Amino acid sequence: MRSEAIGAGTAWLSDHAIRSRIVEDLTRARRRTALLTEAVDDDDLVRQHSALMSPLVWDLAHIGNQEELWLLRDVGGRDPLLPETVDQLYDAFQHPRADRPALPLLDPAESRRYVTDVRSRVIDLLDGTPLHGRRLTEGGFVFGMIAQHEQQHAETMLATHQLRHGEPVLDAPGPPRAPGDWLPAEVLVPGGPFTMGTSVHPWALDNERPAHQVQVRAFWLDTVPVSNAGYQEFIADGGYADRRWWDPAGWDHVQRAGLQAPLFWRRDGRDWLRRRFGRTEVVPPDEPVMHVCWYEADAYARWAGRRLPTEAEWEKAARHDPATDTVRQYPWGDDDPTADRANLGQDHLGPAPVGAYPAGASPLGVRQLIGDVWEWTSSSFTGYPGFAAWPYREYSEVFFGSEYRVLRGGSFAADRVACRGTFRNWDYPIRRQIFAGFRCARDTAPGEG
Ligand SMILES: [Fe+2]
Repeated sequence: MRSEAIGAGTAWLSDHAIRSRIVEDLTRARRRTALLTEAVDDDDLVRQHSALMSPLVWDLAHIGNQEELWLLRDVGGRDPLLPETVDQLYDAFQHPRADRPALPLLDPAESRRYVTDVRSRVIDLLDGTPLHGRRLTEGGFVFGMIAQHEQQHAETMLATHQLRHGEPVLDAPGPPRAPGDWLPAEVLVPGGPFTMGTSVHPWALDNERPAHQVQVRAFWLDTVPVSNAGYQEFIADGGYADRRWWDPAGWDHVQRAGLQAPLFWRRDGRDWLRRRFGRTEVVPPDEPVMHVCWYEADAYARWAGRRLPTEAEWEKAARHDPATDTVRQYPWGDDDPTADRANLGQDHLGPAPVGAYPAGASPLGVRQLIGDVWEWTSSSFTGYPGFAAWPYREYSEVFFGSEYRVLRGGSFAADRVACRGTFRNWDYPIRRQIFAGFRCARDTAPGEG
């Protein structure tokens, strides 16, 4: 088996290319942050739209605070821009989201001034910072980490917009249609080892490291994510009321929470309607189902006589090319995501129909692994063999354990800087406000693999 190599299309090699990419990624993140925080008025910015989420104004100043802490103070050795008591207001580990509205936060105007001030100093700092010789800045890592952090908050802020009640304030062109070509329902992923994770991507986060060999048995994987139409069959068949399909903890949760359909769906006569970013519409049958928790995904799979893929199965399907026995960064290869390969970056305000993005297919023809919807896997969130927390334990390590499930592949709301074949996301199995769906897998029957 060949070991991991970074392809030629990544442009990571020259110092100049890395610096250009840092500026481009930070700038794109800030455009998104600005759009999401300027779309609502100041009352909406400071309001808490759901106990699950921070007020948007907290996200905004927290983005600037993390950027100041890591780039200006750590890398640059600069003094704090604001009284040091401000740091603890924006420390996610000191204040749970539900408590954040009661804090003496910076107001919207102060927050905007702060993030703008930090950013202009960061761009100056970047010019004089060598991108080698110190682990934190090697290959631009910490700058990339901050761009990823801001984009992760852009996704969280978009989830806040989805939970917000009121008139629509966001708009974007619709995603591309599916080409409508014939697709098999599932593909056979051959068994054998592959290299999971990465040791060479300079901006990969600690939980994606190190690269290590994993044996995966042959299995079948759905070519596309489960659609709303497919999920509606589960509902119509009484799936929510049939204990057989549910993990015991999921069954308790469904009873207690009274779940009967994905979040944001409601029944209207014979139709299912859904609310998305302030607009109510009939649920489109061919979109990937979204806003289902892990328990719902797991129950659907069992009802369908299938199961969720493990995290290793998902990554093998997304990165391994059986013809050459190599791994790539993305299903289509090592080149960056583009508008015709994946639905990322909030270019569209929802997933594309199942079967879209043929240019983003994996070597075996699996589509939409990157972008559209995060995909729940059956795996708990743990460290890979040889894991070492870096640059701080609170990024990943404190979440390791059986209470979180891993999601893969990014959503339409995730930016390309924070989405690659090795990227790992995690959440509680009851969470539904995230832009998550799933696809199913199954073991091979005797003689099939
Ligand atoms: Fe954060």
